[in-house]
Formats: sequence, C-alpha cells, structure tokens
Amino acid sequence: MRVLGIETSCDETGIALYDTQHGLLADALYSQVAVHAEYGGVVPELASRDHIRKTLPLIDKVLADAQCNKSDIDAVAYTAGPGLVGALMVGATLARSLAKGLGVPSLGVHHMEGHLLAPMLADDPPAYPFVALLVSGGHSQLVRVNGLGMYTLLGESLDDAAGEAFDKTAKLLNLPYPGGPHVAKLAESGDPERFIFPRPMVKHPGLDLSFSGLKTHTLTTVRQCVAETGLTEQDKADIACAFERAVVDTLVIKCRRALKQEGLKTLVMAGGVSANKRLRESLAAKLGPEGIAVHYPSLRLCTDNGAMIAYAGALRLAAGERDGADAEVRARWPMTELSAPEVA
Ligand code: KG4
Ligand code: ZN
Repeated sequence: MRVLGIETSCDETGIALYDTQHGLLADALYSQVAVHAEYGGVVPELASRDHIRKTLPLIDKVLADAQCNKSDIDAVAYTAGPGLVGALMVGATLARSLAKGLGVPSLGVHHMEGHLLAPMLADDPPAYPFVALLVSGGHSQLVRVNGLGMYTLLGESLDDAAGEAFDKTAKLLNLPYPGGPHVAKLAESGDPERFIFPRPMVKHPGLDLSFSGLKTHTLTTVRQCVAETGLTEQDKADIACAFERAVVDTLVIKCRRALKQEGLKTLVMAGGVSANKRLRESLAAKLGPEGIAVHYPSLRLCTDNGAMIAYAGALRLAAGERDGADAEVRARWPMTELSAPEVA
C-alpha cells in the first residue's frame, strides 16, 4: 500500500510517499521560516496561506521523485491535530478532496503520534515496549509506549514545552526564530563554568517537567550582563551554554527516572528538540553504560515532516482505520485519547 502523507500543522509543509513494502519512496519539505522570521514567531494566517500555495506543488514533486503518479496512491494520511487550526484545515481539506477524487481512503493522523513513530523509520527501529521522550515546540512529554496507540502519559511539562523554552531564550538573546538551533549553535562557544542554571523539578519526585523558571533565569542573567558591561557575544554564548546544559541534564535525569519506574531498557526520543546534538549525545553517553538503548530519528525526521505522517497513517490504515464523514481537525488533542487499532 502506498500512502501519501501531508503535514501542515504549523510552519512546515511536509509531503511524503510511504510504501508499506518498500519504505519511504520520496519526501519533500518546505519551511516557512522566512515568512515568519520578521515577526519573531509563527503568524497563523500567514501559515495557512503559505500551505495553500505549497502543498500541491510539493505533492507533484514527491510523486515525480518517487516516479509515481496520482493513480499509484492507495490512501492519503494528513495531520488532523494538534496544531494551528487554519493550517490543519488546509492539509485536511486537500487530503480529503484528493482521496475522494482518487476513490481511496483518507485518515487524519495525530501529529505527536507521527513524531513518536518517526524513529521506526530508522534502520534499527526500537521494539515495544519503550519510554518515549517527546520534545517539540508545543509538547514535552514522557510516555510509556506498549504498542501503536497504547500510550500512558508518565509526565509532562507543567508550563513551557522544551522547544518553546529554547525559542523564548533565543528571543531574549536576540537570536532569530526558530531559536532552538541558534541557541544550540551559540552554546558550542560558551563557557560551561561561568553560569550554572538550576535543573528544574529534578528534586521533585515524579516525572513532570517545568521550563518557565529557566527562561526567567535567562532573563535575570541577561539583565545582569547588560547592567555590567552591555550584553557581549561571549555573554550570549555563555548564557546559551548554561541554558542548554540545564535543559539537557534535566531531561536526562527524568528519562532515567521514567525508565527505572517502568522497568524498561529502551528510550526513544522524538520531536524537534531531539535534533539537539547535546541532548542526543548526553542521553546516549549517560544512559548507554546503564544498559539503555537510546533511539532517535534521523536529523531531518526530528522536526516536522511528511514522512512521519505517512508512516503513522500507513500503520493505522493497514489496520483498517479510515476517516468517517465526521472527520475534523483539532487544535488540541491529548495523545492519550488515542487507542490501538481494533485489528493490529
Ligand atoms: O517538532 P517540531 O518541528 O514542531 C512542533 O511540533 O512543535 O519542533 C520545533 C521545535 C522548535 O521549538 C525548535 O526551536 C526546536 O524544536 N528545535 C531545537 C533544535 N532544532 C529544533 N531545539 C534545540 N536544539 C535544536 N537543535
Ligand atoms: Zn512537530
């Protein structure tokens, strides 16, 4: 079965064609970063309009790259939520119209389930059950995964998501949007000894996370530097370094705790922040010697993409799931509302 995947939940148009026998045939991504950069964040209306412009040409490109045509598509999967409602509606409307025109089924996919399953597209996919660390711009969650749709929420951020904290810190340091990769780059030239930021929530029992205090800590440190000598490039790098280390150490501690609590030896990380080099390296270096296998998606499948939607959709479509006449998009959609397909 060949499934076309359409991702339009935020500021990236992602399209992919996944074949349940031969794997990923082709994928393409268009990032709207340039559209939103001057506003310092995503402008929902501009995002919807840009998805309208880009989705069809990208579908044509993916089909051409895969040397297929529209009649080779057996089903269409699209992101149905959570995300920006206008942006979601563009992808959903297009996907469902295309499916109707081709006489094939369509299926709305949960964006975070897409992220969660992206590491399955790697050469050495993890086996169930495992603990998943989902860290994106809108979510930070630790989830026990027993199988497709069998998710137990173990802990989550009580305030800012990890990616959101990176983005807000970037703003405080006058770095461009989206901030995560810029903070990470700058942190490489920072002095790790100069500022030591707190590791939030690690002394609290349990698996919840909190990142908004770190943002406040960043703000206070920026103000201190401004008052002393003005904010220099080295100050910015030292702050980025302290911030990144605090986030990474906190996530490592919480992942270790989650694995211990659940008695599991496999950790899967996914979502935009899982592209963070220090996080990838620290989890592998610190948990590896403890007998934990750490899996993450390839870099280009960490952030939003069409392949993860095509893949998650393919699994559920293969189990017989289809959109009903009442299919709709959802800005908010807790992942724990998902269930396993009836025929697995
Ligand atoms: O999963 P994603 O592409 O979109 C959402 O579903 O939110 O995640 C985007 C988030 C942004 O907050 C971005 O700053 C962050 O992932 N991010 C990073 C890195 N690359 C992307 N954060 C830290 N380090 C990175 N290398
Ligand atoms: Zn995402």
